[in-house]
Amino acid sequence: MEVIESKKEDYTAPEIVVGRDWEDYKIFGTKGTIYIGKHLVGTGEDAHLTTPVLLDVLRPHIITLTGKRGTGKSYSMGIFAEEILKLPEDIRENLCAVIIDTQGIFWTMKQPVEYSPYMREWNIEPKGFDVKVYVPEGQKEIFKEAGVVFDGTFSISPEQLSYSDWLFVFGIEMTDILGVLLQRVLSKRIFKTIEEIINEIKKIEGFEKEKLALENFFEATKHWGIFGEQKMPQLLLPGKVSIIDVSLTPQSIRALLVALISRMIIYERTIARRQEEYEKISGEKKYKIPMCWLMIDEAHNFIPNVGTTAATEPLMKIVKEGRQPGISLVLATQQPYKLHPDALSQCDLIISHRLTSKDDIEALKSIMQTYIIFDITKYMDELPRVKGVALILDDNSERLYKIRIRPRMSWHAGSSPVALKSRVL
Ligand SMILES: Nc1ncnc2c1ncn2[C@@H]1O[C@H](COP(=O)(O)OP(=O)(O)OP(=O)(O)O)[C@@H](O)[C@H]1O
Ligand SMILES: [Mg+2]
Repeated sequence: MEVIESKKEDYTAPEIVVGRDWEDYKIFGTKGTIYIGKHLVGTGEDAHLTTPVLLDVLRPHIITLTGKRGTGKSYSMGIFAEEILKLPEDIRENLCAVIIDTQGIFWTMKQPVEYSPYMREWNIEPKGFDVKVYVPEGQKEIFKEAGVVFDGTFSISPEQLSYSDWLFVFGIEMTDILGVLLQRVLSKRIFKTIEEIINEIKKIEGFEKEKLALENFFEATKHWGIFGEQKMPQLLLPGKVSIIDVSLTPQSIRALLVALISRMIIYERTIARRQEEYEKISGEKKYKIPMCWLMIDEAHNFIPNVGTTAATEPLMKIVKEGRQPGISLVLATQQPYKLHPDALSQCDLIISHRLTSKDDIEALKSIMQTYIIFDITKYMDELPRVKGVALILDDNSERLYKIRIRPRMSWHAGSSPVALKSRVL
């Protein structure tokens, strides 16, 4: 087995487990892992596949999934979801996953992929998966017309948003006149509808021009199809993989949704963690809120290196404190350089498909420098020019591997994203 670099004892096992340190490997072996691909040995044309590569799901992880456009990030994210749903019951019931789908490409996971001879090489059969797809309540007709199969809808109520959420949504500064007026309005009471907020703005004396601007901001939200009475469905259920389709939602609202979902996951898992501790002591079993994998496509738009979004604060909380409540985060991005550096530095695993930009490669290098002696560019260059190949930088075992991600069983719509965007955005 070719291990490119390592400081630790060598594995002698017939498989590679990433995301698991040696201590855990000795206890658990390959239990509680998902099959993501095969080890790639050799370089360029001579590269060939060898040992299965498994990823630990017993512990929480922060994973950056990166690579240039069309190199396999969303595809690989789909592999994680497939594998979570394929886990044996006793492990699956302790896990759930939430995918923030910015391109509207994950609903097709319900369908099996068309069989290809390439799948035979991997001994993999086509299979559809029982993922639960949710679309915004106000956009359901558009999704229906497009033939998207979904399981439910969601909306958010204005009362769920804090003052700073609104500032992010509209891109207003707290110190702007609009920001000041907004605070004056929101401090009056709790508003359940957008109409109630607009009526309250109208009551302000003076500031005619600014009032109109603020009213217009709120009027515009009515076309986003996101505010309503249909709450978010229960996402943290044993073995459930939920897809939140935000492909037709403006970016500032996507960030807001990610913020609300992240806060909800943190809240529920923090309570669950306390409950689990109590159960350990008392032996009493009450309820199960599974550990959660939050997977975010195009993550640099939510947790950027420059500026902040509504999602920055809750996502950074998961990045820094998510291990304790058992929350894993998968941040997929074309440009790791554009991801918040603290998010990148807290990753314990990086799965990097081909990258060529110097800034992006430097960003990866800076966090894994302790055990990468050679220039990471060398390994990138050695990757054969086929889809789905990647480098895995594993901070748990301090190793670096070249791998090829396995073929999907379910249909991946990545090459033909929903052609609807222009209708709403
Ligand atoms: N592991 C793989 N095995 C075989 N084919 C793959 C694999 N990964 C990706 N592909 C192929 O590459 C295409 C692009 O993959 P994907 O949609 O995941 O790209 P991406 O990195 O998410 O791109 P973007 O940055 O544009 O979102 C897929 O439609 C699929 O055909
Ligand atoms: Mg993608």
